[in-house]
Amino acid sequence: MRDGQGHEIVISVRGLRNQFGKQVIHENLDLDVRRGEILGVVGGSGTGKSVLMRSIIGLQRPDAGEIHVLDENLLDRDTVGDDEVRRRWGVLFQGGALFSTLTVAENIQVPMHEFYPGLSANLLDEIARTKVHLSGLFPEAGAKYPSELSGGMKKRAGLARALAMDPELLFLDEPTAGLDPIGAAKFDELTRDLKETLGLTVFLITHDLDTLHAICDRVAVLADRRVIAIGKIDELLTSDHPWIKEYFSGPRGRAADRGRAGQ
Ligand SMILES: Nc1ncnc2c1ncn2[C@@H]1O[C@H](COP(=O)(O)OP(=O)(O)O)[C@@H](O)[C@H]1O
Ligand SMILES: [Mg+2]
Repeated sequence: MRDGQGHEIVISVRGLRNQFGKQVIHENLDLDVRRGEILGVVGGSGTGKSVLMRSIIGLQRPDAGEIHVLDENLLDRDTVGDDEVRRRWGVLFQGGALFSTLTVAENIQVPMHEFYPGLSANLLDEIARTKVHLSGLFPEAGAKYPSELSGGMKKRAGLARALAMDPELLFLDEPTAGLDPIGAAKFDELTRDLKETLGLTVFLITHDLDTLHAICDRVAVLADRRVIAIGKIDELLTSDHPWIKEYFSGPRGRAADRGRAGQ
């Protein structure tokens, strides 16, 4: 699938509607994600960023709309729960959510057990070691339990698990929340390096203006129940929408912009 400008589209959402009871979260939401980009997704707290991600990965069945991921129609009854498409993406959920009773290596192996039940223990260990390395963790981290890791290391372990199946698409829900600025910057760098070396497409929900400036190719803004704007930050800066103006041109937005200019 390609858009009007010839970009390959790997996620296409049209006319999405999500509603919980009387609360309408999304209405007529459209979104295209291009292959190979890091798309930042921003919006006020509670605007439905996580629900959007859950809809795209098939964990939240929408009330209306169409969702195509990697050319598969996700709302097609036969495709939902289809391992072939699900193993082509990796997910780091908000909060990270590692299994606390499993070591890092065992956490990484969870999706492998699910998708490739026949793999030998040796091979599983070997793959887990590779992912630990890829995520910038020291080799011994594989044998540690989540409670023994710092916040930044937990995020990396979550990332390693998301990469377990060699995905084409990576979903990250607020991965740098709770990290100090240096830890967050390092995680951003890792995300960008992985995107470049593995050729990933990244759907990245974030509050972090520094992250948007540092690594996102485009940014989608969620407000008024839909994606009200999408583009490079420079393009968004011309918007008159009050939330966009406040977010990018308020004190924190200007500081992030200056930080970028000074790099
Ligand atoms: N399973 C659910 N049942 C009912 N309400 C939900 C559910 N999941 C999310 N919501 C509500 O939907 C809104 C959007 O949630 P969410 O996508 O988590 O926001 P955010 O943009 O902060 O990630 C919130 O008001 C939240 O309370
Ligand atoms: Mg959220």
